[in-house]
Amino acid sequence: MEDKGVLVAPSVLSADFTRLGQELDDIATADYVHYDVMDGHFVPNLSFGPGILRAVKGATQVPVDVHLMVSNPDEVVPQYLDAGADMVSFHLEATAHANRVVQAIHAAGAKAAVAICPATPVCMLEDLLDDVDMVLLMSVNPGFGGQSFIPGTLRKLRQLQGLLAAHGVAPLLEVDGGISAMNAAQVVEAGADVLVAGSAVFGKEDRTAAVEAIRSEGLRGLARRRTQA
Ligand code: DX5
Ligand code: ZN
Repeated sequence: MEDKGVLVAPSVLSADFTRLGQELDDIATADYVHYDVMDGHFVPNLSFGPGILRAVKGATQVPVDVHLMVSNPDEVVPQYLDAGADMVSFHLEATAHANRVVQAIHAAGAKAAVAICPATPVCMLEDLLDDVDMVLLMSVNPGFGGQSFIPGTLRKLRQLQGLLAAHGVAPLLEVDGGISAMNAAQVVEAGADVLVAGSAVFGKEDRTAAVEAIRSEGLRGLARRRTQA
């Protein structure tokens, strides 16, 4: 299967909001800015909405990957597309009309991704795999930064790779939650292309170095994956 290198997506949920512009400058070498939207309903926490996304888009050249942890993605997706989202991830658990949400995102010229929580099996994704640009596997229960990586995610990554091979498609695989330079290699070795990291970037004094440390560990994992292929 085609591999796409290792992409790093710092989650600004863990940034210092009083100096968000500087924080964005410090992660200018990242591949995506990961923007976590929490509605206090799908998840027990609130974060930020389309207004702050517009400000983020005005302050960085890095494409923004919007992760919607909301119970009504069908209704709110247009606001995030209007605000400039480059990629939108919505939760499969939150909508009965996932295919329609993907179509709405693509119609606006953005990339579409479907996300699943740790307890949702990857087989639930099967009929969307031909249509999405990325699959987001949550490796913590969504709602908060700074949680521990759930190890069963590695098995799900391997299962998902099998499903993708069977369908002959290769969307990006993003893993979100509890990622750091300590586990980036094994997560990429198991199949991840995009690593989201919040506290492991913004909890460090030097954010730029933290991004590069995660990327270089990820590349070590990619080298191991290539030798197995
Ligand atoms: C969790 C969010 C994550 C979170 C990651 O609900 O979707 O993107 O910000 O934070 P860390 O990397 O600290 O687990
Ligand atoms: Zn996220």
